Amino acid sequence: MGKTEKKILGKNAAKIIDILKRAYCDEMRIFRYFWYVGTNMEGIGLVTYAAALKTQPTGELTHAELLADRISELGDRAPSNPAEWAKYSTIRPLDQARHLTLKAALERAMQFEGKAVANYNNLAKKAVPLGDYITYNLATMILGGEVKDEQHTEDILKSLEVK
Ligand SMILES: [Fe+2]
Ligand SMILES: [Fe+2]
Repeated sequence: MGKTEKKILGKNAAKIIDILKRAYCDEMRIFRYFWYVGTNMEGIGLVTYAAALKTQPTGELTHAELLADRISELGDRAPSNPAEWAKYSTIRPLDQARHLTLKAALERAMQFEGKAVANYNNLAKKAVPLGDYITYNLATMILGGEVKDEQHTEDILKSLEVK
């Protein structure tokens, strides 16, 4: 953290870092979820949607990278151990092996994409009074992606003919 930013944020940096780490853990778990489900899909989803599920998580990985960059700017490091991802994540439980059919996969995705929208909205709101406009900017940018993710998942679920 540069010395001016350190002066501006003071003790508030720790509060921001904590939320950023939780968001990072969520993103890594969501990435793993989509990737695993896309690779191991069963039933009709295997031929209709598995490929899309494999490309979708690259967006979540980008979010994770942006969060990791901000965490390191603030003088800390993103959690490296998947056991920590599960511990600090705001989404639980997330057992991808239980969501291998298309409808089950998308229904679980609806829940955590919605949670991501709420979380980034919350982060943006919290960052402003703490004086962290960079994190505010980051949160609103990722929020835009999560809103699209949720809408997209909702649209596919609605048009699903396989029940
Ligand atoms: Fe994301
Ligand atoms: Fe997302």
